[in-house]
Amino acid sequence: MTYISPIETKSWKKLQEHYKNTKDIHLKTLFEDDKGRFDKFTLNTESLYIDFSKNKITEETLSLLLDLAVEMEIPEAIESMFKGDKINQTEGRAVLHTALRDFSDNPVIDSGQDVMPLVKKVKKQMESFSLKIHSGDWKGYSNKKIKSIVNIGIGGSDLGPVMVTEALKPYKVKGIDSYFVSNVDATHIAEVLQKIDPETTLFLIASKTFTTQETMTNAHTARRWFLENGGSEETIKKHFVALSTNKSGVEKFGIDPANMFEFWDWVGGRYSLWSAIGLSIALNIGYDNFEELLRGAHEMDIHLKEAPISENAPVILALIGVWYNNFYGAETEAILPYDQYLHRFAAYFQQGNMESNGKSVDRNGNSVNYQTGPIVWGEPGTNGQHAFYQLIHQGTKMIPCDFIAPAISHNPIGDHHQKLLANFFAQTEALMNGKTEKEARQELEQKGLSSDEIEKLLPFKVFTGDNPTNSILMKQITPKSLGSLIALYEHKIFVQGIIWNIFSFDQWGVELGKQLAGLILPELEHDNPVIGHDASTNGLINEFKRMRKG
Ligand code: F6P
Repeated sequence: MTYISPIETKSWKKLQEHYKNTKDIHLKTLFEDDKGRFDKFTLNTESLYIDFSKNKITEETLSLLLDLAVEMEIPEAIESMFKGDKINQTEGRAVLHTALRDFSDNPVIDSGQDVMPLVKKVKKQMESFSLKIHSGDWKGYSNKKIKSIVNIGIGGSDLGPVMVTEALKPYKVKGIDSYFVSNVDATHIAEVLQKIDPETTLFLIASKTFTTQETMTNAHTARRWFLENGGSEETIKKHFVALSTNKSGVEKFGIDPANMFEFWDWVGGRYSLWSAIGLSIALNIGYDNFEELLRGAHEMDIHLKEAPISENAPVILALIGVWYNNFYGAETEAILPYDQYLHRFAAYFQQGNMESNGKSVDRNGNSVNYQTGPIVWGEPGTNGQHAFYQLIHQGTKMIPCDFIAPAISHNPIGDHHQKLLANFFAQTEALMNGKTEKEARQELEQKGLSSDEIEKLLPFKVFTGDNPTNSILMKQITPKSLGSLIALYEHKIFVQGIIWNIFSFDQWGVELGKQLAGLILPELEHDNPVIGHDASTNGLINEFKRMRKG
């Protein structure tokens, strides 16, 4: 593959010209000018219905963006990822999280080896372990059934399992409660330890590297707590299991290797919920439902591989994102699920997107001179409406939004869901159409305001509209549809990384802070004033030490 800069491509230059010519055309006008627009700009995958018609694009825009995808070798990049090429070049690794949800019976090759037998073996291990926990065959040290699962992990070893566990609460296995501890702030683990009983608790130590400071600190605290509250070195094996790639680290911690659920370096941390890291999910919703989640993702993998790029959902969403990010200069994207169970979805893709595409050096090692990954944020509707939507409607920034909703609620009480969805549709309509001066004036007149009052209020009542949105609907949030939705976003990130000519699967940017924290930690333990840093850092450390003494 050739690592060219996107801005050197012919299509990029054409897109710049096209942007100048079309940027001022209001979304409303695009709909007025093309009655077939909705049909042209919607896509149906097996589980998802995606309307991207409320975007500032025309058929020409899409065709130029697709040319860009071809010039940036998106089809080749997709093939290369699935083939097991070491596309995570700075770490010398393949990117094969798709193998974890591959039900095709085809081999998936990493470094000349088919990884599928290992994948299947660990899945079997997860399945039989889940069954033992649920049936009560697996017992704690006092012969009681496990009732509480505590996943100790951070970043990719936490966010995915938390998000999915919350999203699939209606599928929760009765009699099992799940807790997640991630922050090194002792408050996090202390609050959980108060709620659980050592006799009936299983700790999952989830860490790809098994060296992460936060996770290891929390794991040791949990271990101490267990030993101080009735457990023993001998019975640790009944209450601690590890989800990791690091066998020796797991053994050193004192976890029986037989209780280790393995995964491999070709699974990126933020793409690992499909691996052994998903054990907390399987324990929470049952292994069959976990497998359905994988099947949903597999469905999207097949779509990415097989659909032509002009009908390929992740590719199209990625290209539309590039259009706003690089031509309109939008800096953020909001993910707005209209489903309370998806309340951690945006937080999950904050890591997914920002750790993957928050890069400023291209694949040739040169600094980029264009924007790469967006800031991703969001909250569930309708809460967001009463918090930050004002800025999206009338602020000075363009914020492309994804609205996501199921047609059927897991809690069909009264007309809640109709009201929720009425808000979804109303918001995307309002963001697009806005309110003209004429409409605002008429409204004020109808309210009986004087013409003086109308003139004063009018500027504040006008909404320019023209704010782009994607709408993603699914029948219901099920393990399968959720799997498909997650994979849609994963692949969108992947495609964008290729367009921006960056490496999406490393995360060197998080290292520096970790290194410095390692240096500072011992300085907090002694009484001498600290002088080795800049004046601000020295001052803060010394003040912190003074406060703790006084
Ligand atoms: O934040 C950096 C990071 O390496 C993430 O990519 C990863 O998900 C997280 O730390 C946790 O890492 P580990 O699973 O190795 O503990």
